[in-house]
Amino acid sequence: MAMTQDEMKQAVAKAAIDYVVPGTIIGVGTGSTANYFIDELAKIKNKIEGTVASSEASAERLKGHGIPVLDLNSVDEISVYVDGADEFDRHLHLTKGGGGALTREKIVAAVADKFVCIADETKKVDILGKFPLPIEVIPMARSYVAREIVKRFGGEPVWREGFITDNGNVILDVHGLEIVDPVGMERELNNIVGTVTNGLFAQRKADILLCGTANGVEVLTD
Ligand code: A5P
Repeated sequence: MAMTQDEMKQAVAKAAIDYVVPGTIIGVGTGSTANYFIDELAKIKNKIEGTVASSEASAERLKGHGIPVLDLNSVDEISVYVDGADEFDRHLHLTKGGGGALTREKIVAAVADKFVCIADETKKVDILGKFPLPIEVIPMARSYVAREIVKRFGGEPVWREGFITDNGNVILDVHGLEIVDPVGMERELNNIVGTVTNGLFAQRKADILLCGTANGVEVLTD
């Protein structure tokens, strides 16, 4: 019988354990796929030095398993960062932030030597943009940033009402974009004052993507 999406998430989470470097600090992402990874990591927790979490939610789950969670400022090196994605293309450019944790995710990914993305095949696209692009914004700049996005890129920014990030900011989800140049758009979006982070992981993309398919896990590289 073909695997369900949940089973595919579990399979890639399990496969990611092969990339965990013993005796080092592991970066841990956010979301339902990352949660499965945390549960797998718990089984080998004595083999690692500790973790850095990309959200309060993941930190709680890690601590619940008795896995040490360290402050990034007390850490020199992260061997590998394991996290999910909302969308990916064949170059392993990603859209992230559906769970609203994009800023801390981008920080941990930037520090890590290697980024292993775990996702299922339902998230693969030719051109990023079907999944609305999350942008974390300083609250007072919300309307300004939304207007600038429409002016520069088109698309339709929608305020994620009632949602506050772990950093105390708000999220705009930009619908209707066709992101043909993810690296350029990531850089351009960063130039809009009041923007904290955008959900494009193109300048620092995944190094390896473990893709869950109905027939098992495929290892993708660019
Ligand atoms: C969290 O902010 C996101 O970047 C997640 O990585 C993304 O939403 C994937 O979540 P799922 O694993 O739940 O699909």
